[in-house]
Amino acid sequence: MNPDIIERIETWFSLHGSQAYDGSRRESVSALNHALQCAQLAEDAHAPPTLVAAALLHDIGHFVALDDLDDMEHVDDLHELRGVAVLVLDFPPAVIEPVRLHVAAKRYLTAVEPSYFAGLSPASVHSLAQQGGPMSANEAARFAALPFADDAVRLRRWDDLAKVPGRATPRLDYYLALLGEVQSAHRPMP
Ligand SMILES: [Fe+2]
Repeated sequence: MNPDIIERIETWFSLHGSQAYDGSRRESVSALNHALQCAQLAEDAHAPPTLVAAALLHDIGHFVALDDLDDMEHVDDLHELRGVAVLVLDFPPAVIEPVRLHVAAKRYLTAVEPSYFAGLSPASVHSLAQQGGPMSANEAARFAALPFADDAVRLRRWDDLAKVPGRATPRLDYYLALLGEVQSAHRPMP
């Protein structure tokens, strides 16, 4: 196991996890609580550890973006790609790809499920517009054919649900241990 990435993840959460999820658009839970709720929903659904890890880490790119962008209100911070950039050396595709695709999964679901859009929070509707809006039929077909598209859609649904004020979750340490196991299975120390 490479402990460096686990320590970096812990540091990002300790520096930025207390801010409101989705910054100034004010979801009703903190960024840390949102990540923990998302990971817990994945575990409750008996997802494999790689997908639980992806659920915990899917928004880590928002924290990375905070170091680079002054004004988060009017731009797409491309957090899914920033997250991939910091995770890709240490985690397998089963973690990386759902993180990379979770924004596209929202664009996909708004295209193929008419009821999905109605259930989005105001902040999620706001970011959807910045992220390109619903996919066209061709884009949706190409998305559905991608490896890990199904996992990205599962992650997206947990993401949308992981915004309940006051919901009890395991602590971050519990999921950091899971991350360590996923990482060491992928990259055993020589
Ligand atoms: Fe999220």
